[in-house]
Amino acid sequence: MNNWRTLFPCLKQKVHDRDLVYLDSAATTLKPQSVIDAVTKHYTFGTANVHRGIHFLSSDATRQFEETRESARSFINAKTHKEVIFTKGTTDGLNLIANSYAAEFLKQGDVLLISTMEHHSNIVPWQLAAQKAGFTIKEIPVLDDGSLDMNTFKKLLDSENVKMISIVHVSNTLGTINPIEEIIKLGHQKGAVVCIDAAQSVAHAKVDVQKLDCDFLCFSLHKLFGPTGVGIMFGKQELLEKMPPYQGGGAMIKEVTIEKTTYNELPEKFEAGTPNIAGVIASKAAFDFMGSLNFQAIHDYEENLLNLATEKFSQIEGLRIIGTAKKKCSVISFELKDVHPHDLGMLLDQQGIAIRTGHHCTQPLMKRFGVTATARASFTIYNNESDIDSLVNGINKAKELLS
Ligand code: ALA
Repeated sequence: MNNWRTLFPCLKQKVHDRDLVYLDSAATTLKPQSVIDAVTKHYTFGTANVHRGIHFLSSDATRQFEETRESARSFINAKTHKEVIFTKGTTDGLNLIANSYAAEFLKQGDVLLISTMEHHSNIVPWQLAAQKAGFTIKEIPVLDDGSLDMNTFKKLLDSENVKMISIVHVSNTLGTINPIEEIIKLGHQKGAVVCIDAAQSVAHAKVDVQKLDCDFLCFSLHKLFGPTGVGIMFGKQELLEKMPPYQGGGAMIKEVTIEKTTYNELPEKFEAGTPNIAGVIASKAAFDFMGSLNFQAIHDYEENLLNLATEKFSQIEGLRIIGTAKKKCSVISFELKDVHPHDLGMLLDQQGIAIRTGHHCTQPLMKRFGVTATARASFTIYNNESDIDSLVNGINKAKELLS
């Protein structure tokens, strides 16, 4: 038995007079005490701006800020700190790449591939860039089990002028784990640049950008037991060097005159304005926390929970799991016959059980499966078998009430 659960104070509370059962970690993870303490410590004793002052607090905040960058570099095994850009989160990182890379370097006649299972944040930024630059977006379809249609992907690579691919590593809605190694390899054979949305994968599996050889990769700290409002955008140095800044302002400049500006070196070139200093500094505690775990142990633990929940769900009459791919992360989307997911979510909430309901920011995927919404339970290291029992009992109770 591990002690992961005890490290998360949020789980010690009651919600609607019941012990909290938190099954919404795909939306955001709870925070261990060490991360909470790091935020408090910064605001209590360390408040200062970074990269801007010579006084003690500013220098110390800058040192800690850059220590987090080193932790992030090491976490994803980037070659250099220049390839690690702090953002507000995955969405912000994808917008940066869409604006600064796709809108600049893709042109009319070029094709960018995304898939039907993308989160809106890996669809809309490309659409906005395409409106400016004139390139075309094409879709890699999803098969009935929720896996990617790799045959069509290969055909698209052969038949289209594919210059870029942006693909989710793990689907936030289905839990499908995409074969990104193969996608990156095939994309590169075609000369395409490949961007990975790793928002849902980094807390569950080792992501090594050098091994993957991806060109860009984005994730958020808040899904990695860290604070909200902090993300990492990885880009290969040679690409980042040639990309124009995304936003202008303080810190990203070398010299400014009224007529013209020269830009700072990487990574600051992409970090205009005062960042989320407390969030970044406390993110070091999240990386340290991840460093204290073992990905194989996480995988085995979560796989057991996923298998158990899948098995118990299969015994509930009228429950359909959406997304049954062979390679899945610990996320289950489902619908219950004659029960709207929103009603189910509300009834579960009354029993202290937190799940997510809705389209999960994946409307094209909802359309693909002929639904407008699903209920979604997601599991991580602080969940246990008793959480699954509570969920199954809760669903059965809701069924009784609503039928
Ligand atoms: N993308 C997050 C989710 O899937 C918010 O819930």
